[in-house]
Amino acid sequence: MVTFSFLSALVLAALPYGLAAPSSLTSLINHETVAPPTHLESRQGGYYSFWTEGGGSFKCSQQGGGKYTCSWSGQKGGGFVAGTGFKPGGSRAVKYSGTYDAKGPGYLALYGWTRNPLIEYYIIESYDIIAPGEPWTKKGNFTFEEGTYELYTSQRVNKPSIEGTRTFTQFWSVRTEKRVGGTITTGKHYDAWSKAGMKLGNHDYMILCTEGFANGTLLPSGSSTITVS
Ligand SMILES: *[C@@H]1O[C@H](CO)[C@@H](O)[C@H](O)[C@H]1NC(C)=O
Ligand SMILES: *[C@@H]1O[C@H](CO)[C@@H](O)[C@H](O)[C@H]1NC(C)=O
Repeated sequence: MVTFSFLSALVLAALPYGLAAPSSLTSLINHETVAPPTHLESRQGGYYSFWTEGGGSFKCSQQGGGKYTCSWSGQKGGGFVAGTGFKPGGSRAVKYSGTYDAKGPGYLALYGWTRNPLIEYYIIESYDIIAPGEPWTKKGNFTFEEGTYELYTSQRVNKPSIEGTRTFTQFWSVRTEKRVGGTITTGKHYDAWSKAGMKLGNHDYMILCTEGFANGTLLPSGSSTITVS
């Protein structure tokens, strides 16, 4: 990854699925490697990620200070995930604020990956339409001082991942009362998942993401401006 040679070891603005992207992805574009200001590096790792596939207009950029903006208008088969956060991810109180105005399938979520096992996870804070690509299995719910979330798992078969094309499990916490802004104590979700038999592996990265995707019949559009602190 030639671009990365320009970045310091502390500042990795990585491509979540980039290196081993399957040829079935029609395109893999718009990766950005923007170094955040120094104070952000030490405070939160300064991690920014932006990934897209397929057709559509997906414009996201890091603004510095943990802030990013996106505006999007997807076409059939297209989707994107972008956000700022932490590498490695893990137990942390993630504060975020901003605006999220979305139509169609997609999420505003704390989004992350673990390896061994390879798990893609979401703590969904807001959305317009949840349109699972794979069936979701309900695993219960939990309530704590930050709210009530319902838990689900799903299986992805031969899909893009941080380890290339793989078959892996997704974990979902879905907030029953949508919000844009607040604190997400990730460890509380990990504990609830563990109690429901949903075991994570070793943390890779986690970001407060904006995601939008076309699900065949519905197209995503919208804009967001989010600051993670
Ligand atoms: C897209 O999502 C909507 C809403 O969940 C659903 O009704 C529709 O069947 C989905 N389309 C496809 C092709 O999955
Ligand atoms: C949470 O789980 C309990 C027990 O299964 C159930 O009675 C309740 O309806 C659930 N609440 C939500 C918001 O899913």
